[in-house]
Amino acid sequence: MTPKPTALFRKKFAGGAGSPYDWRMNASTPLFSAVAINDTHLRFGGHDFGAARAKLAAVVQRIADGRDGPPPQVLIQLGDLVEEPRRDHFEQAARFFEPLKSTRILHVPGNHDIGPDPDGAAAHPWLEALGGALNNACVLNGVMFITLYNARADATDETETVARNEWLRDLLQRYRATPKVIACHVPLVALRDPQQIEKSFGFLSWRSLDYRHTLRRMIESHRDSVIAVLSAHLHLSGHALVNGVHHLVASGPFSWPGDHLRLDFYRDRVVARMIPLEPFIDSNDIAPYPLRNSVHDRHGIEFTDAKHPAFEHYIAGNPDEREVILPR
Ligand SMILES: [Fe+2]
Repeated sequence: MTPKPTALFRKKFAGGAGSPYDWRMNASTPLFSAVAINDTHLRFGGHDFGAARAKLAAVVQRIADGRDGPPPQVLIQLGDLVEEPRRDHFEQAARFFEPLKSTRILHVPGNHDIGPDPDGAAAHPWLEALGGALNNACVLNGVMFITLYNARADATDETETVARNEWLRDLLQRYRATPKVIACHVPLVALRDPQQIEKSFGFLSWRSLDYRHTLRRMIESHRDSVIAVLSAHLHLSGHALVNGVHHLVASGPFSWPGDHLRLDFYRDRVVARMIPLEPFIDSNDIAPYPLRNSVHDRHGIEFTDAKHPAFEHYIAGNPDEREVILPR
């Protein structure tokens, strides 16, 4: 008999003293840490839809409290921060990160953040509220963090796409030896069997709409310096190693199991971990699995694929996707 998903999930993935997710069990302390949070889909002005605001607040507090490791030097917000791309909503959303006082926040634009772009101004609220640029890079503790706009650019905007690729090509060549973490909203590779994820996700963008794979190939040509590519958008958690590049996607707090991603940088390795929200949040709005993934469970079908024969692992990833050691 298959164990009940919630019980199985709690046993395998939940943190706490003595579990693999108790970072204090590690022999050494990381040199520094980064976290990534994605697909929070915040709405304002009324009911806390799907407890999205409560979930993000709980994740940020968990990070600030150091439950899974020391406070991170950098937080990458991987996109779909809000449901509607309004400047006042971005400004309210940005306040959720205030408990992380000494953490540098990097923002990646998602498709919900930018919206359709008939007049070329769709990115203005995001740019005005969060600052920076659609594509950006900074070096922290010797690691370059590159944030890229691919949520709509590859599908609809040839000019944006060409400009981004030229900028990135130049950047990668100038900083060949610098270790890099690259972040973009839409994954560049398939995280599940393509035929299955096209159905369970329900949108063609289960992988980048850059059908020539220009961006992915450019990154692969610098695989020796790329620690990982972090993406979002899918509302499930997984890891894929494709042509020598590690790709990681977390479900995000909004969707069961509410994962955010933590990267602990050691001298000789980077440990990537999915940290689930459940069962740490105490809210009547949060129901246990299989409810409230809101994406892959909306069809009434328990999707699986060859590598994920159980539905909870199809959504949450296998244990070897939930903790990944990345060689530098
Ligand atoms: Fe998205």
